[in-house]
Amino acid sequence: MLLKLKRTPGLYLIGFMGSGKSAVGRLLADELGWSFADIDEDIEKAQGVSIAEIFDTRGEQEFRVLEREAVRKRVREVECGKPMVLALGGGAFIDPENRKILGERGVTIWLDCPFPRICDRLDGHTDRPLARDPEKFRQLFDDRRDAYNQAEHRIEADTDDTSAIVAEILKLPIF
Ligand code: S3P
Repeated sequence: MLLKLKRTPGLYLIGFMGSGKSAVGRLLADELGWSFADIDEDIEKAQGVSIAEIFDTRGEQEFRVLEREAVRKRVREVECGKPMVLALGGGAFIDPENRKILGERGVTIWLDCPFPRICDRLDGHTDRPLARDPEKFRQLFDDRRDAYNQAEHRIEADTDDTSAIVAEILKLPIF
């Protein structure tokens, strides 16, 4: 296993909304016998309200503060030696500080899912505040690619077959 991963056993799944981070992360953790955590779920649990409510009542900036705290908390567990697959919200890796922390303390993997598939998946869902305006949503997809590209690995995620994506991840030269 990669020395860094041995020392800090964290696999961090990043990528745009709807790219399958949570579903893939759960299955990947299962396959590895590792813990799984989802940063959005952590935030909702800690705050006792939904992500959409946090955006609507407190604004995106405050959400980002909570997100940064939640990321740090999980990474600390990894630093203590707890092997973990972590699914991050689509905006978490845009923050340079988060990028640095995640990059240094585990392995970052970008699930790169094409825009049309993302739109199909999110069609009819209303729980993502940043997906409400279709034009802004498309712009965000384009704007974020440079940041996502800074992940250590990129996995083509143009399929709804979660186990096929997990199989691709397990082929990475990190295990
Ligand atoms: C966001 C993505 C969401 C959630 C929030 C903001 C983003 O997570 O954190 O709505 O900025 O891309 P998912 O990527 O799990 O949908």
